Amino acid sequence: MKAYINGTELGFEVFGETGIPLVLIHGFGLDRSIWRWLILEYMPDQFVILPDVRGHGESDVEDGSYSMRLFADDLAGLLRLFCVDKAIICGHSMGGYISLAFAERYPQHLAGLGLITSRAQADSEVVKENRYNLIKQLHKRGSVVLAEQLAPRLSNVDSIIRKTYNMIKQTSPLGLIGASRAMAERPDRMNLLPQLAIPALIVAGEEDQIVDLEEAKHMALAFPNAKFLSIPDACHMPMFENPSALANGLMDLIRRVI
Ligand code: MLT
Repeated sequence: MKAYINGTELGFEVFGETGIPLVLIHGFGLDRSIWRWLILEYMPDQFVILPDVRGHGESDVEDGSYSMRLFADDLAGLLRLFCVDKAIICGHSMGGYISLAFAERYPQHLAGLGLITSRAQADSEVVKENRYNLIKQLHKRGSVVLAEQLAPRLSNVDSIIRKTYNMIKQTSPLGLIGASRAMAERPDRMNLLPQLAIPALIVAGEEDQIVDLEEAKHMALAFPNAKFLSIPDACHMPMFENPSALANGLMDLIRRVI
């Protein structure tokens, strides 16, 4: 499904229709399809909204000038389309950065928050520099550059590496460039966490090469009302690697909200 929201066409899909919706936001270079199997298998009756982040999946790319604030505004526009007053917003990795930007900008619409293999800190200078190098390479060689660099770091499972490689390769290079810049320029949001009194869930993959387990624990402690879920046999992609553990965590978050 697609709709004109916040000045662009955004792709999304919806499951169920009653109760407080759970919004699941995918990470960098991926699209909403990463959640589909988990929803159909483990929470088929839940009201769930899956957006494609601007520049990813079916969403339009526009001119590639993005920020976390713009992504958060896209999300707010999507909720307005469904006349939703409050939602449980959960983001995977870059989707978590968007969720935190949403929490800062639209606290009145937030019923619960989930950060899945994500972080609240801003990029270090080294990470920022790597992102700007990546942008140069994306200009020269296209999306395959990111597919080659990122997919092997997302998981230890070959079929997941192959699936994410293809997804990233199909994403528009301009979308990836815009999202890279938005991530590099995002502010540190650690100071926001103590103000977020809503139920929160922090999910870490015990073998994640991208987000450190200790960093995730530290982030969970900064929330007044967070549960920490560390998933064994998972790297950066628990929705594929251990979907039942992630679904249990999400269902528990939903129960804490309602
Ligand atoms: C992601 O999976 O969304 C990215 O690895 C996040 C990042 O690059 O910081």
